[in-house]
Amino acid sequence: MEKIVILTGAGISAESGLGTFRDEGGLWAQHRVEDVATPEGFARDPALVQAFYNARRAQAAQATPNAAHEALARLQREFPGEVVIVTQNVDGLHEKGGARDVLHMHGALDGALCASCGHRWPAPMQMAVAEPCPACHRPTARPDIVWFGEMPYYMDQIFDHLMTADLFAAIGTSGQVYPAAGFVQEATAAGARTVELNLEPSAVVSQFEETRFGPASQTVPAWVSDLLAATA
Ligand code: APR
Repeated sequence: MEKIVILTGAGISAESGLGTFRDEGGLWAQHRVEDVATPEGFARDPALVQAFYNARRAQAAQATPNAAHEALARLQREFPGEVVIVTQNVDGLHEKGGARDVLHMHGALDGALCASCGHRWPAPMQMAVAEPCPACHRPTARPDIVWFGEMPYYMDQIFDHLMTADLFAAIGTSGQVYPAAGFVQEATAAGARTVELNLEPSAVVSQFEETRFGPASQTVPAWVSDLLAATA
């Protein structure tokens, strides 16, 4: 049995109606990263940041997984314990689509974190400014989202998976944000085959052995079917 490590980005959720970051009209065309996705921005204007994530949390709560999310969950069921999904997304659609043990390297909209004591709990749908932490009771709750300048989560586990991968796939990510954009290099160095599934070539497309272009709701189910047929 071969081990498959999959990295996903905003593109896999685009057909579920959630905006990407760097496409035309994407989130970073509507908001300044330094205002809503940095610790400094949160310190400067917590109301703006909480409103930004409250809106995204409400939108994600209404969103439904698409055929790409469901195909990855099927791949996990067909190869129990051999398919690791690492996501840069915070929308929870992998789990809604049936995936298990997803590694959320940028956190998740349904999580809250206390900036004072580090306590984590399920985020309320609408997090208030100065929301009190249920553990230390200080008014320092923040979205449990990894902002620019902060260390992504699960990096040790992710690198361990990359070092033992037989196949690495990147789906719906522009390859412009590290460390995720460097995962293909790690997987290649470990001897894994690599494939990029994206609407258009990413910034690191040249580092992939195979590419499949098109909307994820079409390319991902076809890719999963090919993998299953190859092991039938
Ligand atoms: N199917 C497949 N790919 C798609 C689709 C689709 N329907 N729609 C868009 N894409 C592709 C785009 O071509 C683009 O390459 O998805 C990618 C989205 O790129 P970004 O918007 O840069 O999103 P992502 O790569 O996930 O960003 C990485 O940057 O801002 C931070 O923390 C944020 O997790 C995010 C990280």
